[in-house]
Amino acid sequence: MKVIINGSDGAMGTLLARAIAQTDDMEVIAGVTPTGADGAYLTMDAYQGPADMVIDFSHHSVTTELMDYCVKRGLPAVVCTTGQTEEEMAYIAKAAESIPVFKSANMSVGVALVAKIVKEVAAKGEDFDIEIVERHHNRKVDAPSGTALAIADAINDASGDKYEYVYDRQSRRRARDNKEIGISSVRGGNIVGDHEVIFAGSNEVIEIKHSAMSRELFADGAVKAALFLAGKPAGKYEIGDMIK
Ligand SMILES: NC(=O)c1ccc[n+]([C@@H]2O[C@H](COP(=O)([O-])OP(=O)(O)OC[C@H]3O[C@@H](n4cnc5c(N)ncnc54)[C@H](O)[C@@H]3O)[C@@H](O)[C@H]2O)c1
Repeated sequence: MKVIINGSDGAMGTLLARAIAQTDDMEVIAGVTPTGADGAYLTMDAYQGPADMVIDFSHHSVTTELMDYCVKRGLPAVVCTTGQTEEEMAYIAKAAESIPVFKSANMSVGVALVAKIVKEVAAKGEDFDIEIVERHHNRKVDAPSGTALAIADAINDASGDKYEYVYDRQSRRRARDNKEIGISSVRGGNIVGDHEVIFAGSNEVIEIKHSAMSRELFADGAVKAALFLAGKPAGKYEIGDMIK
């Protein structure tokens, strides 16, 4: 499998190249980054050589360019970049009508299992107040994390969309009601990524927590996603489909 890495000189792009090098029958055929580091192409369009797959760990502002390129060339794409706007997410969904696209805010199987578990807890424990706390390293620019939102969405989907998300209690100055999911972000040091879902009831609290120990986890997940996606028909896939 010949892979193009978009965001090739980023922290994740570098780890991904290493993970691909350790995977049989997979190679990096081209890197793309606006810095042009290590001989990479400056834009997706600049590379028109052979390719079987695009894996993207870059910036959400290139979503349109990325999807246009993959659609034009009929290439499947694993989109690991987070922070997309609603319009950009709609663009991905549109592209997935003609190519297979794997999009997950978190490429960890453990996080996918957390999303599965919290849905069940939320459905059965209606009286619990739900709060999500995410922690990441001090270089992360988007907040809350895409994973925190994906976990909140999983709960909301399983609960008839009844929850409103609250990110900032400081400006609200009123008691929370039961139809809120509070989402808080902590940034510091080199925390790889923690997500904690708190179900606070009267006299009991359930906490479900996932901690990523190394960012290699996400690179390995992207490799697994590419292997999963190869040969699939057009459509939008996510990590839940893979763990099924
Ligand atoms: N889905 C997951 O499991 C997962 C895990 C880790 C990171 N991420 C996401 O992947 C993305 C990259 O993370 P990172 O830690 O490697 O970041 P990084 O800042 O180290 O690297 C970003 C890469 O994107 C490129 N880039 C930046 N701005 C660009 C632009 N406007 N156009 C094209 N390329 C641009 C940079 O040159 C670099 O190669 C982020 O959105 C991050 O949240 C997702």
